Amino acid sequence: MPSGSRRPPSRKGSMADVPKDLLDQINRLEDLFIVPTEKLKEITTHFVKELEKGLSVQGGSIPMNATWCMAFPDGYETGTYLALDMGGTNLRVCEITLLEEKGEFDIIQSKYRMPEELKTGTADELWNYVADCLQQFIEYHHPNEDMGPMPLGFTFSYPATQEYIDHGILQRWTKGFDIDGVEGKDVVPPFEAAIAERNLPIKLTALVNDTTGTMIASAYTDTEMKIGCIFGTGCNAAYMENCGSIPKLAHLNLDPDLPMAINCEYGAFDNEHVVLPRTPYDIIIDKESPRPGQQAFEKMIAGLYLGEIFRLVLVDLHQNPDCKIFEGQDIKALNKAYSLDAGFLSAIEEDPFENLSETHDIFSKQLGITCSRPELELIRRLAELIGTRAARLSSCGVAAICKKKNWETCHVGADGSVFNKYPHFKLRGAQALKEILDWPAGKGKGRGDPVEILPAEDGSGVGAALIAALTLKRAVAGQVAGIRNPEALLNCPMKPSTKEAGDR
Ligand code: BGC
Repeated sequence: MPSGSRRPPSRKGSMADVPKDLLDQINRLEDLFIVPTEKLKEITTHFVKELEKGLSVQGGSIPMNATWCMAFPDGYETGTYLALDMGGTNLRVCEITLLEEKGEFDIIQSKYRMPEELKTGTADELWNYVADCLQQFIEYHHPNEDMGPMPLGFTFSYPATQEYIDHGILQRWTKGFDIDGVEGKDVVPPFEAAIAERNLPIKLTALVNDTTGTMIASAYTDTEMKIGCIFGTGCNAAYMENCGSIPKLAHLNLDPDLPMAINCEYGAFDNEHVVLPRTPYDIIIDKESPRPGQQAFEKMIAGLYLGEIFRLVLVDLHQNPDCKIFEGQDIKALNKAYSLDAGFLSAIEEDPFENLSETHDIFSKQLGITCSRPELELIRRLAELIGTRAARLSSCGVAAICKKKNWETCHVGADGSVFNKYPHFKLRGAQALKEILDWPAGKGKGRGDPVEILPAEDGSGVGAALIAALTLKRAVAGQVAGIRNPEALLNCPMKPSTKEAGDR
């Protein structure tokens, strides 16, 4: 039976003692959150059309951004690069040395906490903080060294329009960021100004999305890799297109066979609300977010929102006169928006005990709520429903890229906290791919599937360094499409490849 259809919860735990009012609610939640096979297929069919639309001149709601990353690595890239990863939680700086041996590298790295206030502060505060972290890194790892500019791959994991690889106009903030004065502008000049103010020996070489970095890092060691995905705080994917299939770039007269990595930004899929089965809770999430109307798909599946969807359902049930969970209890802590994260749901889904005693303790410690056994059954089922929906919907994006490209088999490199840590996410996603792509019995378990989603190499570190290396390689070879200032890049101390391209 497909995992999305109505079926008993994953554990043996009995619903026999659950009173009718709660059972009715569980049934209602199943109707809202279960996405059956036919719906997954319908979503995927619409998704393929929207991917195409994004590449067209008229465009659509999925941006399908050309990234000017125009090759897979051959494994023989060399040189030393900096990589900066401005994710949601941490800021990470890495120095990566790509070694002569195929696919080998050395890495040193430092992490800096991204203060929560920065996400809603000013643009100046953001760029100064980023440059300060880079300065600390260089002073710590290269004290008193007189160095030439180091090429930097900057992983900026937000939608950006790129006419060049070393530039990017932020289309809109996502993942709860809301810094004034950045949207609609090129993020590179203020970044470079902050670097110049501190006299740092850094040359921004490539502005990279985390998905593109993930695809390229994974392809460094696996030639079957065709797609890079992030299932984390946000969700998105990148894949390699050929320039001839990107009508919106036709005016540039690029060789139609040249590869071009496309950052889909498919978190924006179905912003028009044509096909996704949104629940009243998804509608509230959207309305109360800093960017209502944006990232419709992402808001149903990404880590930032899973805990909040769960919280909204529980608050609603508490207020519902027909069932009233947590009756007579103070739910002050539960009332606080975004107080529960995806880790909270993971812990519930991981509770190994039949009597759900761990869930009982988490609710009591974190929220000051004492749950009855039937309430615990409802809580566990709700976490399963939200986690399963996220995994199943996520697979529609991957399936849509494969269908669009007629890829019956390929590897997909995936990264992000939800993919790496959320229980059963991988298996639920693989099962959904099987249903969408009509694989035979025995498939849909992950390993050995025709389309296999595998844990990725470090995209925002090694991936960003590789993209910087590939960009320098193009500049040296005089292939300067999409490089703003190739001469400036040639001043970076770098070693071009010593060996011939591999067999890709
Ligand atoms: C961003 C993408 C990013 C994804 C995963 C989304 O919110 O718009 O650029 O790839 O999150 O980090």
